[in-house]
Amino acid sequence: MDFELIVIGAGPGGYVCAIRAAQLGMKVCCIDSRATLGGTCLNVGCIPSKALLESSHLYHQTRTDLAKHGIICSDTTLDLSKMMHRKEKIVSKLVKGIDYLMGNNKITVKQAHASFADNAQTIKLDNGQQITGKHIVIATGSEPIAIDVAPFDGQQIVSSTEVLSFDNVPTRLAVIGGGVIGLEMASIWKRLGSEVFIIETRDRLLAELDEDFSRTCTDIFANQGLQFYLGQTVTATTIKEGQVQLTLNDQQLTVDKVLVAVGRRANSNNLGLEKVGIQRQANGMIVVNQQLQTTANHVYAIGDVVPGAMLAHKAEEEGVAVAEHLAGGVGHVNYQAIPSIIYTFPEIATVGLTTKQAKQQGFEIKTGKFPFTANGRALASGYHQGLIKIIADRHNDQLLGAQLVGPQVSEIIAELVLAIEYQASSEDLARTVHAHPTLAEVIKEAALACDGRAIHS
Ligand code: NAI
Repeated sequence: MDFELIVIGAGPGGYVCAIRAAQLGMKVCCIDSRATLGGTCLNVGCIPSKALLESSHLYHQTRTDLAKHGIICSDTTLDLSKMMHRKEKIVSKLVKGIDYLMGNNKITVKQAHASFADNAQTIKLDNGQQITGKHIVIATGSEPIAIDVAPFDGQQIVSSTEVLSFDNVPTRLAVIGGGVIGLEMASIWKRLGSEVFIIETRDRLLAELDEDFSRTCTDIFANQGLQFYLGQTVTATTIKEGQVQLTLNDQQLTVDKVLVAVGRRANSNNLGLEKVGIQRQANGMIVVNQQLQTTANHVYAIGDVVPGAMLAHKAEEEGVAVAEHLAGGVGHVNYQAIPSIIYTFPEIATVGLTTKQAKQQGFEIKTGKFPFTANGRALASGYHQGLIKIIADRHNDQLLGAQLVGPQVSEIIAELVLAIEYQASSEDLARTVHAHPTLAEVIKEAALACDGRAIHS
């Protein structure tokens, strides 16, 4: 065999799996068709979007909020190309960081499209090369779902990739899909001056979360000036004189650009999976067992290409788990303790079970809520919109889940993730000393509220 492990895909799942396997002494090859390492997350996803979210937030804050602090910036202007350049520099710095890590761990990196040859341990590359591996990990990620009524043209009807690189701020932008990508991208362009319309088939945003919570989120974003068409679908689009005309159920909308963000689909085509007996679900996701092993011996799959949340950190954990399993250890991912964040302002962060899921699993629950309006640090910062909701087992008090919308909740949720990982109770959180004044005090208060004893509400 040429390698002990061949990893197909160098996104957060693939490159982390390759590094962990190399740390454990394996001879590893990692293959990616993209010219730069890091996959969707680093090149056209998590990182560039966060760079633009930060820049657009600063621009918006300078124009709208600083005056409240007595800071007057009368001539704030936007240099979009500089903002884009900064984003690109951040991406390229991180790509170089992964190049360095791969080199440092003596991982062979190949740029090519890889697929299975005639058996599950032989991989052929589109440059004509063929290599063999004792084990193969498929970490090929996902791609945006296209819809027939609004086909991508890369210019006016775009995906999450092109929306990160517009040359100009669109006057009017329609976003089809009010999910994670829809909300983050809508926030960026709204802050930079676009009029933004979000078209969502369901009757509220984030409908899979608790209804009271998702309605709060919907109201917050509507109050920011995002315009929602809820319970609506696009039935047709026409491009005419540089404008896109969208036909919704019962109305028309004309915009400069359309972002389609209705979900992502597993990248499992053109890998030769059928030839080697690797089964897929109808939605293209690769079927795996608890060890993330596919239906072919020696072949594993991780990240967006297997069922579960499409999140970089979930892919990373799966990559580590597979590498450790292959090295004879016990690789494990706790799927109950995977946080999910939407980096809007305010941010949205969730972990564990929702009320509905907890009830479906047979739990009798109690909940504790606390608003950021009663948190001193949030009030001092001027950003006090939002709330936290904690869900715990009514009988043994174990923490089951949490939903937060508010300032910096992407950071403070780490405490709740750790609590779930350690199987803590709401009492454990309530008795933990939280520094005052901090945003994290909302966690203590919500935990106290589970038993009706929050101090500040
Ligand atoms: P999503 O699943 O989050 O949201 C898609 C939304 O589109 C849903 O609300 C759905 O009801 C709606 N929808 C579906 N078909 C529609 C139609 N024809 N017309 C109108 N609305 C329609 O998917 P999204 O935002 O594309 O993100 C894809 C994946 O990428 C998600 O799994 C997400 O977790 C991941 N991601 C995570 C990020 C993060 O962690 N911050 C950032 C970006 C993406």
